[in-house]
Amino acid sequence: MANDASAVSDARSHQSLADPFTPPADSSLWHQNFLLGAATASYQIEGAVAEDGRLPSIWDTFSATPGKVLAGDTGAVACDHYHRWQEDVDMLAGLGLEAYRLSIAWPRVMGASGVPNRKGIDFYKRLLARLKEKGIATSVTLYHWDLPQHLEDRGGWLNRDTAYRFADYADLMSRELAGSVDAWATLNEPWCSAYLGYGNGHHAPGLADGRFATQAMHHLLLAHGLAVPVLRANDPASQKGIVANMGRGTANSDSAADQRAAHLFEVQHNAWILDPLLKGAYPRDLFELWPGTEPLVLDGDMQTIAAPLDFLGVNYYFRTNLASDGAHGFKEVPPEGVERTQMGWEVYPDGLRDLLIGFRNTYANLPPIYITENGMASDDKVTDGQVDDTQRIAFLKRHLAAVDQAIKAGVDVRGYFLWSLMDNFEWAFGYERRFGVVHVDYATQKRTIKRSAELVSKFLRERKARV
Ligand code: FCB
Repeated sequence: MANDASAVSDARSHQSLADPFTPPADSSLWHQNFLLGAATASYQIEGAVAEDGRLPSIWDTFSATPGKVLAGDTGAVACDHYHRWQEDVDMLAGLGLEAYRLSIAWPRVMGASGVPNRKGIDFYKRLLARLKEKGIATSVTLYHWDLPQHLEDRGGWLNRDTAYRFADYADLMSRELAGSVDAWATLNEPWCSAYLGYGNGHHAPGLADGRFATQAMHHLLLAHGLAVPVLRANDPASQKGIVANMGRGTANSDSAADQRAAHLFEVQHNAWILDPLLKGAYPRDLFELWPGTEPLVLDGDMQTIAAPLDFLGVNYYFRTNLASDGAHGFKEVPPEGVERTQMGWEVYPDGLRDLLIGFRNTYANLPPIYITENGMASDDKVTDGQVDDTQRIAFLKRHLAAVDQAIKAGVDVRGYFLWSLMDNFEWAFGYERRFGVVHVDYATQKRTIKRSAELVSKFLRERKARV
């Protein structure tokens, strides 16, 4: 008996050593209808920034400005995906990934006067057709930060007119691409566009004023709300939603002041976006935190913004631990002795579970959720043709376990997209930070499948074989 038992446990530990990714047998991830895919974004992978009529974007301008991006990197070439899209789709299909989240570069598909740019549109048509051919579900984000520079020159997201230009762009794309998109997301991470772009200047266009951040956010959300009915009218069969980065704030102590600090952090990161979308109002606490920054809101705007959604895309990376700043705000208290990634971000899977359960408890009309980004950067190297990204494998396994826990607690999570399919231009950090499950050698553009991708792929094959 004793021998038998140890043989079984030996076999188990052997299996887990051999495969540190595969979810346990009772995980909801084994359900065939839980979608597992990978994500990218146009400026981060496409390159070809001046080709076939593409106009400059705010990220071309920003990255060309000395001191804005690490090592002076730009997205001019990136992963050269514009020319290598076929091999990249084949790679996705070869890995057995079931879904692909990509974004469209607005300045590639529309001229300054609003006229369609046929060559740019055709690129996405071909890409989506090939994905369909390979049986890969498509999730298309209309705005992943590459605003046409000519719109920024007229005020960008500080100008209300940009929201209407966005609705025109959504109209054009959904007429052109109707039938080949499974899910449309209007915006990616409006928090980053508004706060990092206009509030602290870490991202393009690099402006830094608290009042700008709230006004830019209002116009971004308005753009979203104007676009949703347009997408519905033009492409009724697809799902419509938005993608937001959600921050988990934990309190450094049980004190009421620290609890309040954690609450305010989540108001500033999550409720700022989710309350307008799902409750039709900005959270009052936000303007206690940032007095005097109320945006100009016109009659009807909040109803427009609260257009019903088919899904909410949640991007999650890390938590922030907080204490009261002694006044009305919060300050970060980074925990010591915790695991961190190449970005310095803490590995904290429970944050994802807790956020999801919290949203379910807060918003009665919470739509179905997709985790539209989750992943980590590591300083991956190719050795003997292989990349052993051990930390990422454990990271993905643990975050997927957190998703499973949320599902078991009753949250409707329908899928998960790895960030990212391949190493790419990581915004202000350039090419140094590698988030891919596929390694990219930027000198040769050679793609090398990392061990993490192999294991995800193996799991997907096993899952398919169970039908
Ligand atoms: C998110 C972005 C995505 C990527 C990851 C690491 O904020 O949406 O483009 O850069 O972070």
